[in-house]
Amino acid sequence: MRKIYVFDTTLRDGEQSPGVNLNTREKVEIAHQLERLGIDRMEAGFPAASPGDLAAVNAVAKAVKNITVIGLSRSREQDIDAVKEALKGAEDPCIHVFLATSPIHRQHKLRMDKGQVLDTARSAIRYARKTFSKIEFSLEDAGRTEYDFLVEMVNMAVEEGASVVNIPDTVGYLSPYEYGNIFKHLKENVHNIDKVQLSAHCHNDLGMATANTLAAILNGADQIEGTINGIGERAGNTAIEEIAMALETRQEFFQAKTTLQLSEIARTSRLVSRLTGMVVPGNKAIVGANAFAHESGIHQDGMLKEKTTYEIMTPETIGLKESKLVLGKHSGRHAFRERLIELGYELDDEALNRAFAQFKDLADKKKEVTDEDLLAVIEEKLQDA
Ligand code: KIV
Ligand code: ZN
Repeated sequence: MRKIYVFDTTLRDGEQSPGVNLNTREKVEIAHQLERLGIDRMEAGFPAASPGDLAAVNAVAKAVKNITVIGLSRSREQDIDAVKEALKGAEDPCIHVFLATSPIHRQHKLRMDKGQVLDTARSAIRYARKTFSKIEFSLEDAGRTEYDFLVEMVNMAVEEGASVVNIPDTVGYLSPYEYGNIFKHLKENVHNIDKVQLSAHCHNDLGMATANTLAAILNGADQIEGTINGIGERAGNTAIEEIAMALETRQEFFQAKTTLQLSEIARTSRLVSRLTGMVVPGNKAIVGANAFAHESGIHQDGMLKEKTTYEIMTPETIGLKESKLVLGKHSGRHAFRERLIELGYELDDEALNRAFAQFKDLADKKKEVTDEDLLAVIEEKLQDA
């Protein structure tokens, strides 16, 4: 089974979520939890962005062990120097240098032609090589870049000694077929492609970040980049927990796996949500409150008979205690009776029918019928009898 390296950028791209600002203590707390989760590489921040971020990256670099710590840098010497400063004390430092390559970015943002982009990136990687033995180079907006220029840029990065080349779909524009095809094309057309790892970095503007990342894996990507809970710029980044569980649940199909401690997923998700203030939607895959909750009678009946009828993975795998059968207006008698037994009531058929009818009346008025509501229904019925 092929190992997929996990590059976590919760502390950098994730922190770029509008409204999120993590202080040094919070970054270190998340970094320790990411260590427990078993990620391979951690992008701790963008040191040139502010003195505070440089200090935070430095604190993370010193705090974590057995993990590659990465600082982001534009293709500029001052930025590279800032990363050098920030990663002092890191056990395994790596610099992440980037430059945009798409025609839109070349024309409107950089005001450079292809030759200038190539030369600027080459000089930056050369400068970074004086300090760093591990370099990741990213072709920002690779998703909207001409194929021949992608090949030219990746050839240059390999020649200059980058260890990882990242192919971001910066604006979440591509479909899985198109994104996967870029990896296939690079594998077939870049000289010495085996000297580098290819990395997938997707944004979720069209809701395709996870699908695109999986398409990249199917086409040879060695590393995936993402964030916990999928937080990040605009609609966010690929959610790491989704990739980990897709590979775990569909191992035979993907023939690839991460080495994450899956049982740490729920805890990591809760910590990141609490410290960033970004609430996880209830229906979010894997870590949403409803991801292992069942409300309808038909589903609850199936779950009570055999869990695999409606669950493709177990809540225990990600560190949760158990699935939830939520009692609401779609729930059936089977789940109702089971919940009463859990609460200590075993009613005969007639009493159960009467209590169930009253429960349905209540469920029509409330979104969720809680254990307290049920106890009130039962006590009232028992007093009537
Ligand atoms: O989305 C992107 O292109 C990035 C780069 C800085 C890698 O985050
Ligand atoms: Zn990004």
